[in-house]
Amino acid sequence: MNAVRRQDGELWMEGVRLTEVAERFGSPCYVYSRAAIESAWRAFDDALAGTEHLICYAVKANSNLAVLGILARLGSGFDIVSGGELARVLAAGGRPERVIFSGVGKGEEEIRAALAAGIRCFNVESEPELERLDAVAGGLGRRAPVSLRVNPDVDARTHPYISTGLKGNKFGIAHDRALAAYDLAASLPNLDVTGIDCHIGSQILDMAPLEEALERVLELAGALAVRGIPIRHVDLGGGLGIRYREEEEALDIGRWCRAVAARIAGTGFSLVLEPGRAIVGNAGALLSRVEYLKLDKGKRFAIVDASMSELIRPALYEAWHGIEPLATLDRPAADYDVVGPVCESADVLGTGRRLAIAPGDGIAILSAGAYGMVMSSNYNSRPRPAEVMVDGARSVQVRPRETVAALYAGERTLDQAAT
Ligand code: LLP
Repeated sequence: MNAVRRQDGELWMEGVRLTEVAERFGSPCYVYSRAAIESAWRAFDDALAGTEHLICYAVKANSNLAVLGILARLGSGFDIVSGGELARVLAAGGRPERVIFSGVGKGEEEIRAALAAGIRCFNVESEPELERLDAVAGGLGRRAPVSLRVNPDVDARTHPYISTGLKGNKFGIAHDRALAAYDLAASLPNLDVTGIDCHIGSQILDMAPLEEALERVLELAGALAVRGIPIRHVDLGGGLGIRYREEEEALDIGRWCRAVAARIAGTGFSLVLEPGRAIVGNAGALLSRVEYLKLDKGKRFAIVDASMSELIRPALYEAWHGIEPLATLDRPAADYDVVGPVCESADVLGTGRRLAIAPGDGIAILSAGAYGMVMSSNYNSRPRPAEVMVDGARSVQVRPRETVAALYAGERTLDQAAT
């Protein structure tokens, strides 16, 4: 469900008009709904009520402390991919024993920090990583809980840039090497083999590939038990797709969770899931303002004050985000390419959008709560936007807009560095 709705010609999030948010906090700015985040997380948790489980929110989707804090209060776990994300989770009140650490390139320092914090599990992606983890744990006199991320070689049927479960992908350990990798893990003195995991891609709208991956993982788990390497949990990653456009149907969270719960009932495994986008994607929007309307060789451009620096998904993945005026006003409607001020032809937020807008009008770029702010950059020396959390009738700034001075505060000219 999208957290943004139109009522009496205005866009609202919970009890707050988005025009008011743009006026108070400036443009562009990211805005999120607490109620939408909580309700998406609960959809997972409720559907798994009868199954031993842990929902580990994928921090990479949106790592603002306010988002993490809301989830920590619900009792969420967290899936991290860096020492930076671990620090954020702890700063937001997340419990280390509910943290799992994914990613192909964990550094020694990051491993040390995670062991010191006492995280629940490392999702290991290669044999050399097993050896490093064993060595670092040994050095600290600890044992590291591990799960191996296996690559089930299943086509997630999503955009190739966000598909991760196919052979030839950098992620995970190939299915046919998995048992040998588990033998290695079991032989290393400072590792505790506790689970198995996979993640086949993101924005998956079809349940079939997820079910296929589940079968392959369960088959491996069975083979491990026979080998005398029993595991305790199965982690199916994230990847559940959300509705970006009307003709799309989101993957039903409740349906997927109930299907998994039914399938693993009786196996004795507990379940871990790592959803990111499904929790925050439709809980957020990027607010922007029309700067100019430009007519060029019959093509109309709406040049707005947000860009690929703030939201790179359309440029990077040809992703489609809804774009709507904050208020329905009496303007002539036309088809626009909505573009930003950045000096790149790829700086497009949407093409061929029918919009009734004029310069100065506010617009919302919808479904921008996941992989929006976290992937933003300062390209063209653009300060990152403010972030705002709506909670009922109030809106709270949870990160201020960056200042231009802060962008180069640590830099020096050679002359300055010499003095
Ligand atoms: N677990 C692992 C190991 C992952 O690699 C990911 C996402 C997730 C969980 C969470 O997946 P989700 O539930 O959000 O689909 N920047 C891209 C998406 C990249 C996803 C990377 N991995 C985008 O904007 O579409």
